[in-house]
Amino acid sequence: TSWTTAMRYRPYAQWPAQQLIDLRAKIAQSHWRFGYHIQPTTGLLNDPNGFTYFNGQWQLFYQSFPFGPVHGLKSWVHLVSDDLLHWQNLGRALTPDSPLDQQGVYSGSALPVEDRLFLMYTGNVRDQQWQRHPKQNGAWLTTANQVTKLVAPLISDPPTGVTEHFRDPQLIRHGEWYYAILGAQKQDQTGHILVYRARDVTGPWHIAGELTFGDQALGYMVECPNLVFIDDRPVLTFCPQGISPDVLASDNRYPNAYVVGTAFDWEHLRIVNPSPLRLLDAGFDVYATQAFNAPDGQVLAVSWIGLPDTTYPSDQEGWANGLSMVKTLRLCHGELRQTPVTSLETLRTRRLALTTESASIPAQSELQFTIPADQQGTLTIVMNQVTGAGLTLTFDTVHGKLVVDRSAAGAGVAVDYGTSRTATLPVGQAVTGQLLLDNSVFELYLNDGATVLTGRLFPPAGPWQLTTTGFTVALNLQGWQLASI
Ligand code: FRU
Repeated sequence: TSWTTAMRYRPYAQWPAQQLIDLRAKIAQSHWRFGYHIQPTTGLLNDPNGFTYFNGQWQLFYQSFPFGPVHGLKSWVHLVSDDLLHWQNLGRALTPDSPLDQQGVYSGSALPVEDRLFLMYTGNVRDQQWQRHPKQNGAWLTTANQVTKLVAPLISDPPTGVTEHFRDPQLIRHGEWYYAILGAQKQDQTGHILVYRARDVTGPWHIAGELTFGDQALGYMVECPNLVFIDDRPVLTFCPQGISPDVLASDNRYPNAYVVGTAFDWEHLRIVNPSPLRLLDAGFDVYATQAFNAPDGQVLAVSWIGLPDTTYPSDQEGWANGLSMVKTLRLCHGELRQTPVTSLETLRTRRLALTTESASIPAQSELQFTIPADQQGTLTIVMNQVTGAGLTLTFDTVHGKLVVDRSAAGAGVAVDYGTSRTATLPVGQAVTGQLLLDNSVFELYLNDGATVLTGRLFPPAGPWQLTTTGFTVALNLQGWQLASI
């Protein structure tokens, strides 16, 4: 299919029922579907939205275009969970059915307010000339999952000096105020993060200023800004599109960045003592991460595994992208640590025998290993039995370097942006690793989450094999097959 604009923005009700039936049939044939990661039922998934705790359960939504593997008319699909691992899909919660969001219910967040959940999102509204008129909208969700959209926008227009690129409100509460943190582009084509505030969540909302952390340029647009507090220190995650490599180097088409400070100055909306900008993920496919401070004190994050303006081989099967494992965020000596939720352990079904030279690895598995200091060697998840090629992790613990190469791990993805990623590790030190494999996605967590690399792979169906080359000592390998959810 070649997807015209008219098809992408066709109202949902005008799609023949057969479209979803056909997509489901195609998808049922796929060996790239995930066993335990969140994936779209049909069509395209992008940003996580509204991640929160409400009504005794974890709540999560995702951006969805259900009718094909492309970016089109978006809605929010609602998921709930008791353990941050098993998610029940409750279907669409926000549909683009109002004049305030008729070209798409775009990204946003959620905050419990008394006995209801308040959703704040960007309504994508386009005029006849296809100009955007972004609206920041509100909706209430009851404990019975009844949604009522507010009839007027919370913020009707971008503020003076801001272009049509103004979206992705993150709602947080501080003291007597509700705050909304938004991504924006100024008329000089620079990216910024703006802050609005209101006494009452339904408004009136007024601009409070710009969220700052030094004076580095943030490219031409910032998407999905997200502020959380870990040990009272601010951690801001955001997606600075077009940022200069001098400020933040990334091999990806679009990066997901973060900055940590020692305090947040609410009066001036300033991160005090900001760290240099860093990549949230050193891999291939993490974007639009959403994080929140949970009522139990945890700080939790979840990422879109997929990048804007990027096609993936599963498009041919009628679906695209997924979400990462939920990750716990911590600070250790001021450095961010991201680790997958521990409930993941409940999926372990069978311990893998990894003592032989070449071991069988199920396509849904978890491997744990220690690479001792002063080693140079490669772990290969062999995916092509004939050539012996696959996903390679090449560790150099002499110089403190890791190269993850997916060039021989099946059908290519975004190859113009390179087929390997390099991460820096402590020089001359051992490295611990946890590798999650789920048919067409991997997440690699190193040194207790100090470095994370995530990526898609489109290999032949498993089981695969694990081989190691170059190491002169044992790697202390352990592994488990992981069940499907
Ligand atoms: C980020 C993004 C957001 C927008 C949403 C639309 O991936 O472009 O800025 O709200 O996706 O689906």
